[in-house]
Amino acid sequence: MSDRIEDFVESMKIQPGDRILEIGCGHGVAATLICSKLVSGSFLAIDRSQKMIDAAVKRNEAFVKAGLAKFIMAELELADLGDRKFDKVLAMRVRLFHSEPRQAQQLAMRWLAPNGKLFVQYDEPQGK
Ligand SMILES: C[S@@+](CC[C@H](N)C(=O)[O-])C[C@H]1O[C@@H](n2cnc3c(N)ncnc32)[C@H](O)[C@@H]1O
Repeated sequence: MSDRIEDFVESMKIQPGDRILEIGCGHGVAATLICSKLVSGSFLAIDRSQKMIDAAVKRNEAFVKAGLAKFIMAELELADLGDRKFDKVLAMRVRLFHSEPRQAQQLAMRWLAPNGKLFVQYDEPQGK
């Protein structure tokens, strides 16, 4: 388990009833940590890679089966989540937040509920 991801999720102060959206979930490591803190809340993740979505679903199968978590292939720029709103939206190491931060933030903030919070981390993965 990565300290980077653990520390980031800890900083989000997840509440049992939170509605959470993750953008660019990758293998679903943060998803596991977040879902283990939810009771009545919900977790939705998008990623533009079907391979990553498959890996995240596999890793979080119990949460998906329990109806707590959902993973869908979608790109931040094009995703249509209807009128769904979230208490906390997170994105870690999703390049658009580095290359086009204003655009990425605007895209993510349309899904925030009133008083919702956006959590972003961008650092270059080691070795890249
Ligand atoms: C470097 S990985 C980071 C994965 C994980 N968030 C982490 O911090 O370990 C970036 C992930 O974001 C996804 N991604 C990148 N740009 C995206 C976009 N515009 N919309 C949706 N997913 C995106 C990639 O497919 C990849 O799974």
